[in-house]
Amino acid sequence: MSEKAKNVYVGMSADLVHPGHLNIIKEASKLGRVTIGLLTDAAIASYKRLPYLEFEQRKAVVENLKGVDKVVPQETLDYRPNLEKIRPDIVVHGDDWKEGVQQEVRQQVIDTLKKWGGKLVEVPYTKGISSTMLNRAVKEVGTTPEIRLKRLKRLIKSKKVVRIIEAHNGLTGLIAENTRVKINGVTKEFDGMWASSLTDSTAKGKPDIEAVDISQRISNINDLAEVTTKPVIFDGDTGGQSEHFVFTVRTLERLGVSAVIIEDKVGLKKNSLFGTDVEQQQSPIDMFCEKIKSGKQALVTDDFMIIARIESLILKAGLDDALKRAEAYINAGADGIMIHSKEKTPDEILEFCSRYKKFARKVPLVVVPSTYDTVYEEELAEAGVNIVIYANQLLRSAYPAMVDTAKTILQSGRAYEARKNLMPISEIISLIPDCIGKEKQCETE
Ligand code: SPV
Ligand code: MG
Repeated sequence: MSEKAKNVYVGMSADLVHPGHLNIIKEASKLGRVTIGLLTDAAIASYKRLPYLEFEQRKAVVENLKGVDKVVPQETLDYRPNLEKIRPDIVVHGDDWKEGVQQEVRQQVIDTLKKWGGKLVEVPYTKGISSTMLNRAVKEVGTTPEIRLKRLKRLIKSKKVVRIIEAHNGLTGLIAENTRVKINGVTKEFDGMWASSLTDSTAKGKPDIEAVDISQRISNINDLAEVTTKPVIFDGDTGGQSEHFVFTVRTLERLGVSAVIIEDKVGLKKNSLFGTDVEQQQSPIDMFCEKIKSGKQALVTDDFMIIARIESLILKAGLDDALKRAEAYINAGADGIMIHSKEKTPDEILEFCSRYKKFARKVPLVVVPSTYDTVYEEELAEAGVNIVIYANQLLRSAYPAMVDTAKTILQSGRAYEARKNLMPISEIISLIPDCIGKEKQCETE
C-alpha cells in the first residue's frame, strides 16, 4: 500500500482557524488521505467554552481547507467511537496534549490504534498563536446583539446544563464573564447572566416590587452588554400588562438579550422568597397564556425565548396546579418553563421534574436554587433541568462584607482595621484595564 493511500484522522474544533491548524493538516496530508473529526458544539462544551462558530459554519470552513479530504462529526472529546468506526492508519495531533484534560484522551487514542497496528504522529506545536489567545482577542472586540442573543439556544442544545449567574452592573458582569476554575484540566465558567429584579432593585435601594422601571432595568442591561459577551436572561417580573409586555419584548430582543422570564402573578408583585408571608396572587391561566401569546407575536426572530415562570409551589397551590400550568403555557407558545420553590430541600422541584419528564411536549426547564442550595447542578441536570440560575449570590456576598467594613471603620475611628476585608489599592486601580473588555484573571486552580 502506498503511503498516500493511508487513512489519516485528525480531530479538531477549528473554531478560529490559525496557522497551527493549517500546519497539522499539511503534515497529516503528507501521510495520506485526511479525515477531519470535527468536534461538535456539545463535545467542545464538555470541556471548555462553547465555540464562536456553529458546527455547520466550522464544517464549511474546514471542508475547504487544502489537504482535507473529508469532514465527519466527532460527537465526544473521546476519540474512540470515531476511531473504532473509521479505523485510521494514523492519527495526527499537535504535541501539546501530553498534559491537562487531553492527556487521558491521548492515551486512549494510542491504545485504540494499537488494536489494528495504527500509530499516533505528533506534530510540534506552532508557537506564538493559540486558540486561547484568539479567544481573548475576540472578547476584546466584543460581540454583536445577534450573536449574543442566539447563544443561549446554542448552549441549551450543547450542554447538559446551562449555568447562569446574577449580574446587576458592569462589575458583576465582568465577574460572570471572566471567572473560571480549572478542575482536573476541565475549565468551568458561567454560561451567561441573569438580570435579576431582586438584585437590580436592591442595588438601587428599592424593594423588589416592579418599582424600578423598565428603562432603568434596560440601562443595567446596557452596562452589562458593554463589558461582556455572554448571553443575558432578563427577569421580566410579571411582564406588566400584555399591551406593555410586547414593547419590552421588542426592546430586549433588539438589545441582544436571549430570553425573558415572566412570572404568573397579578397585582402588586412581591419577591417570591416571601412565599405566602405576604399577599400575592397568581394569574388565571388563560390570562397568562394570552400574555405569552402576545409576547410571541411581537418577536422578530426565532431565537429570543419567552420563558413562563410558575409560582404554584411558592404560593402553595400544589404540584398538580404547577403541572397543569406548565402544559397550558407550553401550548400557548412558551419557549421554556421556570419552576420556582422556596423550600429548603429540592424535593418538590425534583418531583415536578420527574412528572414533567413524562410530558409529550417539553420545552427547556429552568430552576433557581436559592433556598434549596444544597442540590448540585449535576442532580438537577439528571432530573431534566436545562438551566440553573444562581439568582442573587453575588450581591448577597458583597453586602455583608461592605456592612462589616463600614462598622469596623466606625468602631476603630480609622480604616486600618478594615484592611482584612479589602483588596489592595494597587489591585483596585488596575482591576478594570483602560481597554474595554481586557480580561482580568479570576482563575483559581
Ligand atoms: C430574582 O432574582 O429577582 C427572582 C428570583 O425573580 S427570586 O428572587 O427567587 O424571586
Ligand atoms: Mg425577580
